[in-house]
Amino acid sequence: MNLTKFVDELPIPPILKPYWKDPFQTIYKVRMVEFKQSLHRELNDTKLWGYEGCYPGPTIEVESGEKVFIKWTNNLPPKHLLPIDFTVHGAHSDVPEVRTVVHVHGASVEPESDGYPEAWFTNGFEQVGPFFRKKVYQYDNVMRACTLWYHDHTLGITRLNIYAGLAGFYLIRDQRERSLNLPCGQFEIPLIIQDKSFHKDGSLFYPRQRDKPVPQVETSIVPEFFGNTIVVNGKVWPFVNVEPRKYRFRLLNGSNSRFFRIKFDSHQLFYQIGTDGGLMEYPIGINEILLAPAERADVIIDFTNLNGKRIIMKNDALAPFPNGEAKNMVDTVMEFRVELPLSSIDTSVIPSYLRPFRKLNVQSASVKRKLTLDHTLDQYGREIMLLDRKGWDAPITEKPTLGSTEIWYLINLTEDSHPIHLHLIHFQILDRRDFDVEGYKRKKVIKYTGPPLPPKYHEKGWKDTVIANPNQITRIIMKFGPYTGLYVWHCHMLEHEDYEMMRPYIVIKEQKRKRLDQPQANKT
Ligand code: C2O
Ligand code: CU
Repeated sequence: MNLTKFVDELPIPPILKPYWKDPFQTIYKVRMVEFKQSLHRELNDTKLWGYEGCYPGPTIEVESGEKVFIKWTNNLPPKHLLPIDFTVHGAHSDVPEVRTVVHVHGASVEPESDGYPEAWFTNGFEQVGPFFRKKVYQYDNVMRACTLWYHDHTLGITRLNIYAGLAGFYLIRDQRERSLNLPCGQFEIPLIIQDKSFHKDGSLFYPRQRDKPVPQVETSIVPEFFGNTIVVNGKVWPFVNVEPRKYRFRLLNGSNSRFFRIKFDSHQLFYQIGTDGGLMEYPIGINEILLAPAERADVIIDFTNLNGKRIIMKNDALAPFPNGEAKNMVDTVMEFRVELPLSSIDTSVIPSYLRPFRKLNVQSASVKRKLTLDHTLDQYGREIMLLDRKGWDAPITEKPTLGSTEIWYLINLTEDSHPIHLHLIHFQILDRRDFDVEGYKRKKVIKYTGPPLPPKYHEKGWKDTVIANPNQITRIIMKFGPYTGLYVWHCHMLEHEDYEMMRPYIVIKEQKRKRLDQPQANKT
């Protein structure tokens, strides 16, 4: 598909209007519906699924500490937009195709409102999953300003629901952020970057078969999905007109599997001010940034003195592009045209200091978990990705105690990089270190073969998603709370997440210390 680049203007998702707002609470109602939208002017309108009938969904903007209730409802038709594979775990043929459940990615939320993958519900709540708990989700937003996003999280079909359009921004703001005088208003723009492919008629293309077709089974589970066009805020290769001044962009990689390494053809520096978990301690000047699926970066780009210039945002990550397609399909993201006159003097700043950041103390960790990222073959010979050699249904093994600090060793035994995401908490990356993979597979002991590598500059801050590279052990540290209950951790490459690289975990209340003389309760 040869669509012309930079012919459509970048859309900015609308801000969602509350249904009700008073000093104590804010209530939103969000319906998921099927609709058609133009994603490129040379393409017929594309049938999509979206929140409130738009793709991406409307941006939800809240204040730190604001009590927010959202009624998510599913008004989708009975048949899925994309081919469903009922052999994929979780998508059993006895459950309907229009299951949805919403997760606010990066938010600290009570478990009943977190969008547990089995807490799905169908149109009108006619059918609900085994973990259905609440019809109106509650978000306390007891968090500092940060860039979050909401998206579907249904067991076994997350890759299809998000690809169909079910994703949007969720921004938390606070006083500290406002006091910094960052570019704001029309000079602050969220950018959700995704890759997609289309059929000739404009409909979404999602592959039905693996590279090695499985004759016994019609399948829509592919090892990874890579599209051949780049879509930003719902337009293929858009352009945006900007003034010669500073802009703040919230970059979000919302792709199923594709990593982006973002840079500009002008080779100019830009300034990162925030990570997944909000503002960093200091801004850093960078000329490229690698973003795996679900990772965010809050950046300032200064177009001052660039009047008349056109600057292209490039992607030079080496991820595959579909067979036969030219590489330049996916190495281009969008274009910035510094062609608007300056409407007012730019008084915004790039502050030299943003927010205090305290490193979690390695000594305070009470538990160290060694967890493998692994793969195996299913009964049809398809590759399955696993965490800790377990699938979704295996009994829960990660049970951190409320308030405790843990270090997780993500031991990657596969040949892929995996963006690993934990719900509920934000963590810090300690280090990545090369190790002897084959030795580990044989003896289950870690033998390091290189020095610990510190996180990259753009990862020094609070994170909720971390890239775990092959042949490396990636260590993260986090404190569990403030809620107890059932959450998940998973790879955010959606094809991996759906099959089967996701595990439940549970935060438990501190156990009373068992007296040694007390006999263990008998198991029945
Ligand atoms: Cu962005 Cu568990 O999700
Ligand atoms: Cu993965």
